[in-house]
Amino acid sequence: MNNLCVLIMAAGKGTRMKSAAPKVLQPLLDRPIIDYVISNALNAGIAPENVGVLVGSGGEEVEKHLSQTFPDVKILWQREQLGTGHAVKSAQDWWSNYDSLVVLNGDVPLLKPESLKELASCCDKHDCTVITFIAENPGAYGRVIRSQASVSIVEFKDASESQRAIREVNAGCYAFRVKSLAAVIGLITNNNAQHEYYLPDALGLMNSRGMATGAFVMPEEEMQGVNTQAELAGVSRVMRMRILSHWMSEGVRVLDPESTYISVDAQLSHDVTIMPNVQIWGTSKIGEGCTIGSGSILKNAVLGKNVQVIAYAVIENSELKDDSKAGPFCYIRDHACLERKAFAGKFVELKNSRIGEGSKVPHLSYMGDATLGHDVNIGAGSITCNYDGTHKNKTTIGDNCFIGSNTMFVAPVEVGEGATTAAGSVITQYVPENSLGVGRARQTNIADWSLRKHHQD
Ligand code: UD1
Ligand code: CA
Repeated sequence: MNNLCVLIMAAGKGTRMKSAAPKVLQPLLDRPIIDYVISNALNAGIAPENVGVLVGSGGEEVEKHLSQTFPDVKILWQREQLGTGHAVKSAQDWWSNYDSLVVLNGDVPLLKPESLKELASCCDKHDCTVITFIAENPGAYGRVIRSQASVSIVEFKDASESQRAIREVNAGCYAFRVKSLAAVIGLITNNNAQHEYYLPDALGLMNSRGMATGAFVMPEEEMQGVNTQAELAGVSRVMRMRILSHWMSEGVRVLDPESTYISVDAQLSHDVTIMPNVQIWGTSKIGEGCTIGSGSILKNAVLGKNVQVIAYAVIENSELKDDSKAGPFCYIRDHACLERKAFAGKFVELKNSRIGEGSKVPHLSYMGDATLGHDVNIGAGSITCNYDGTHKNKTTIGDNCFIGSNTMFVAPVEVGEGATTAAGSVITQYVPENSLGVGRARQTNIADWSLRKHHQD
């Protein structure tokens, strides 16, 4: 596939989405639609510098996103959106440097890399090849008119009754011989129902000049376009099932695929079990033998082997190492880490904290900016007071400490190895190794107090 480029059209307004954001930036699962289209081209073996994206409507936003996500793809501008034919013409200076050009609608995210390769291989066969599909409900798609030797397309709004009855439609994916396209692109007019320059008109113009046009049919499921929120939901379902089928074929046990969401960027291993109602987003990585309990949401979470996420855990940008355990009902975030065999239990929040090997934070705790050594036990209700209103301060708790229930660590503060704190203590100063830190008033009992109180009433 030498000297081939791929042009993705993403300049349209996407009016039918009824959203302030440009259509191609609408999220499909957890990534913008456009990312899937670009990734397909890259996965088909096209170098990023040979992929061009046409931006226009909301173009600054699209450009900003792409410069961060795919910095090497070429951004091309279509300043006014006058139709797909006009869009491709706007980028002529770029694609005329190549021999072959594949054009893709930016809203066809389910197209697979194999299909893109097949389309690209047609650049040598015809002057233009289009992908078509047989639509269950052909709606507003362009209708494919086949004659013995050629193919042309009529847009729905311009089609006659009998043409509208045709169920074979244009998928919006084209392969062109560049020289042939260059000969007709300037001849496309906007003399039609929508007063737009239609790229599909290139086929008719080629046919009348004796050039070769062709089409091949693909399954509808792969070729669906996204024009409305309902179509986005439909495409999202297909993408979700595609990702789930892949992981199930790799040995992941998914109890209820209907309620499970896995990002296209997540990595799972064999013998992972996913209970119903789980979401795994971003670049999460789940090691073998892990169980992800119901209602859990993982985002950029890295789990080692045999990690048990019991249920209703939210884990973001954090790491749970081998044999650690979390939940039910915990929030682990901002680069927190459970070392091997560590445990964060019921109603526990960990923020930017390291819980050492075998250490436990079982109930009702907040550990923020804390470092715990190994085999520490944190009593129920203990928290770090890590924020003084201006700064976030650190708490350090040494190996083998036993922290009494409801201890407050007023950070910055440190507890030496093997130390204990008395329940209910407010720890404001260093507790030396193996010492008991008591930071509370002694209990005094006032005899007959209740009797006297009643007497007064
Ligand atoms: C287009 C095809 C139709 C096909 C359908 C398949 C045309 C005229 N019609 O219709 O035959 O069945 O796709 O999904 O091409 N865009 C630009 N600049 C513009 C206009 C559009 O970049 O000036 C981009 C859009 O962002 C979009 C793509 O081109 O990604 C297709 O545009 P859209 O308006 O969705 O075309 P359809 O009406 O769906
Ligand atoms: Ca479309």
